[in-house]
Amino acid sequence: MNMGSCQGSWFIGDHVMPIISVANPQGGAGKSTSTLVLATTLAQQGASVAILECDPNRPIMGWKAGQSNNTVFVDCEITESTITAKLDAYRKRFQLVIVDLESTASRLMSRALARSQLVIIPVQASPNDAELAARTIHLIQEEEAAFEKVIPYKILFTRTSPVIQTRIEKAIIKQLADAGVPRFQAHLNERAAFKAIFYHQRDLAELDDSEVNGLPAARDNALRLTSELVDLLTREKAAA
Ligand SMILES: Nc1ncnc2c1ncn2[C@@H]1O[C@H](COP(=O)(O)OP(=O)(O)OP(=O)(O)O)[C@@H](O)[C@H]1O
Ligand SMILES: [Mg+2]
Repeated sequence: MNMGSCQGSWFIGDHVMPIISVANPQGGAGKSTSTLVLATTLAQQGASVAILECDPNRPIMGWKAGQSNNTVFVDCEITESTITAKLDAYRKRFQLVIVDLESTASRLMSRALARSQLVIIPVQASPNDAELAARTIHLIQEEEAAFEKVIPYKILFTRTSPVIQTRIEKAIIKQLADAGVPRFQAHLNERAAFKAIFYHQRDLAELDDSEVNGLPAARDNALRLTSELVDLLTREKAAA
């Protein structure tokens, strides 16, 4: 995907821009990392992106300082009383709004889910994580019932090895497929570069090969994932 395909599709000319929530009550599932990788990769391609940082540890707060050339707007002052109005305001100003949720099921989470065009559920490929992903899906279904709307969701496997698929990973992927649970084909592999973007406050394009191992592979991984995301949102938009 390149900048042209961003601009040629649902990003431009639409009145209502997509809101994506990144949710899983499991602590450390990879919510904040997935949020920042997606937001910075899309921004690097020319999209304007706002992040609503609801993680109480505020790991994405530093991006507010705007050290990166491809600025991602970050709002860390989100409460359950302000989230709905802020989402409605940001979706008018930005091409994409991504909500990095806290790791507890809360009213704030429920309000974010209700406004989302897509929920990404980052999951590490372990049995306990798969169980918590099922709980996230259950929370989404509760919102769907309450608001009488469909809220599309997709599992995103995180921290998987780029070279070896473990037996547990295979079994969990099969279990999800058998249950008809949608997932991204691309995983967010375990990569030092995905930690480095937090540490250096620079996106994958701005980091230097001498600073971090495996950078080209991490860039390729981020591009495959964002490309899949944009294709999905484009299809959803066309179907709407
Ligand atoms: N793909 C990855 N490659 C390398 N490290 C990763 C990756 N994904 C997550 N991590 C690391 O795993 C830890 C937890 O990730 P992260 O903070 O993104 O999870 P989270 O779901 O947002 O956690 P919390 O529930 O605390 O908000 C962090 O130390 C992060 O650097
Ligand atoms: Mg987090």
